[in-house]
Amino acid sequence: MKQVLDKMKLVLLLLCLVLHSAVSTPTRYEPNWESLDARPLPEWYDDGKIGIFIHWGVFSVPAYGSEWFWFQWLDEKRWYLQDFMKDNYAPSFTYQDFAPMFHAEFYDPDHWADVLQASGASHVVFVAKHHEGYTNWPSKFSFSWNSEDVGPKKDLVGLLADAVRAKTNLKFGLYHSMFEWYHPLFLQDQANGFKTQDFVQAKTMPELYELVNKYKPEIVWSDGEWLATDQYWNSTEFIAWLYNDSPVKDTVVVNDRWGNNTRCAHGGFWNCKDHYVPSTLVPHKWESCLTIDRKSWGYRADTVLEDVYTIEELIDEVIFTISLGGNILINIGPTSRGEIPPVFEERLRQLGKWLKVNGEAIYKTHVWSNQSDIVAKDVRYTARTEGNATTVYAILPDWPATGNITLGSPIASASTNVSLVGYPGNFQYTSLGSGGITVTLPPIPVSRMPCEWSYVLRLEGLQNQKTELDESAYSKNLQALEMRKDFPMPKVPSFRVV
Ligand SMILES: *[C@@H]1O[C@H](CO)[C@@H](O)[C@H](O)[C@H]1NC(C)=O
Ligand SMILES: *[C@@H]1O[C@H](CO)[C@@H](O)[C@H](O)[C@H]1NC(C)=O
Ligand SMILES: *[C@@H]1O[C@H](CO)[C@@H](O)[C@H](O)[C@H]1NC(C)=O
Ligand SMILES: *[C@@H]1O[C@H](CO)[C@@H](O)[C@H](O)[C@H]1NC(C)=O
Ligand SMILES: *[C@@H]1O[C@H](CO)[C@@H](O)[C@H](O)[C@H]1NC(C)=O
Ligand SMILES: *[C@@H]1O[C@H](CO)[C@@H](O)[C@H](O)[C@H]1NC(C)=O
Repeated sequence: MKQVLDKMKLVLLLLCLVLHSAVSTPTRYEPNWESLDARPLPEWYDDGKIGIFIHWGVFSVPAYGSEWFWFQWLDEKRWYLQDFMKDNYAPSFTYQDFAPMFHAEFYDPDHWADVLQASGASHVVFVAKHHEGYTNWPSKFSFSWNSEDVGPKKDLVGLLADAVRAKTNLKFGLYHSMFEWYHPLFLQDQANGFKTQDFVQAKTMPELYELVNKYKPEIVWSDGEWLATDQYWNSTEFIAWLYNDSPVKDTVVVNDRWGNNTRCAHGGFWNCKDHYVPSTLVPHKWESCLTIDRKSWGYRADTVLEDVYTIEELIDEVIFTISLGGNILINIGPTSRGEIPPVFEERLRQLGKWLKVNGEAIYKTHVWSNQSDIVAKDVRYTARTEGNATTVYAILPDWPATGNITLGSPIASASTNVSLVGYPGNFQYTSLGSGGITVTLPPIPVSRMPCEWSYVLRLEGLQNQKTELDESAYSKNLQALEMRKDFPMPKVPSFRVV
């Protein structure tokens, strides 16, 4: 008996030692990219796929041109903005005079939370501060240029964070601009060739720590970094703190905009550039951010319907992006009064309706060996692996008129099943061997179709279900990474001619 007890003690002691060493030596990240880049991306981000971006600020008051209003009016002297100011405001009117007009009187964070939840997104990224420097929270470091002191007289960030956490299962993230167009300390550092860091020490860093400690965002979406290096911004020191010691150290995700040398190279997921949509696989987790109003991130009062993505176009972008391993961040711009324009709300609710049926082809998926089909040119693929089984999803933008569809990429096995997501039963198909399959589509009454836009075929038990991608599948030269050609890039704004 004693021997047994001694053995048990020994086992317990060893167990304690093992546990102790596991607990007491967590990875500490060093403030350099080699160390920070080695951190695995928290899984929730890749699983969730879809986020909603919200651009809100003083720029929502003039609501003309874009969120770059201040700079494009004063620095670039764009004629339509000059005319707009001359025609509508007194000559002495400054950009700062717009701030008291930012009332947010209809701001209803619970309603916003409801719309966000209905969209099917897994996270939201809210603009805490854009390049104008106005903070949507009562920052100690932005005296009299924040939403509590001037304008709404509210903590816009805090109210949304609370509503999103109370009413939804979305993660809450924040966008933050490192530089500010007209901050005197920034302009001084710039004049000094960024050899001084007064702005970073007095503004950028205190503000970022304040934001993270106060609101615990699970995404820190950085921007406005491009005029100086990561060294000037002290980016790696901040991210090391974020990953090691911050209140969100285990779940937080960051992007790649931390200095003029970091995009598409360092950080968490890669944004590379606005509206980034590569045409091939990227050897890293990436994100495309796009605006439902093609011409602006911030709300514009002069948006017309053709500027706005249709639900078909939006779902196409979602599918295209996810088939290539990206996440998508879909932007809306609320009005200065706090309303989400109904056309944006409608798009988000439509997307959510589609995802409610077809989410299994989106969330927690990974790229398949073929991201598109060579025979059915519009079809895109995603795949989802559980245990040993990989289900492949063929996503059809339209319902074929012919009663069947031939897919070139899937190779059927004896046990392959083909079905329509959201519809009962299996479909018949003919195997073409290595040439693919032809799926017979039954005539389904419109009232029994599972959804209204893209249709998803679920392919189980394929002979080539396994995804084997070697290095040659990925683009190597990221600088020259080819952008998708048919992507609807924002056109040069066409403004009224006076
Ligand atoms: C990056 O910014 C620094 C200033 O911090 C500047 O000297 C350098 O030329 C910039 N590099 C690029 C590639 O723009
Ligand atoms: C910020 O960067 C400077 C120069 O790279 C460095 O000397 C300083 O220690 C850094 N500050 C912090 C708080 O990490
Ligand atoms: C998965 O594959 C492995 C190796 O081929 C096999 O041993 C295991 O039984 C499989 N598991 C299931 C759930 O099919
Ligand atoms: C597919 O549909 C076309 C047009 O209706 C028809 O000619 C063809 O025989 C069908 N193929 C299969 C394999 O069912
Ligand atoms: C599918 O992917 C494999 C492996 O990358 C490739 O060899 C094949 O040509 C692709 N087939 C089609 C139909 O695109
Ligand atoms: C195909 O469907 C049949 C009938 O529903 C089922 O028994 C079988 O397990 C399915 N095969 C695969 C590979 O999912």
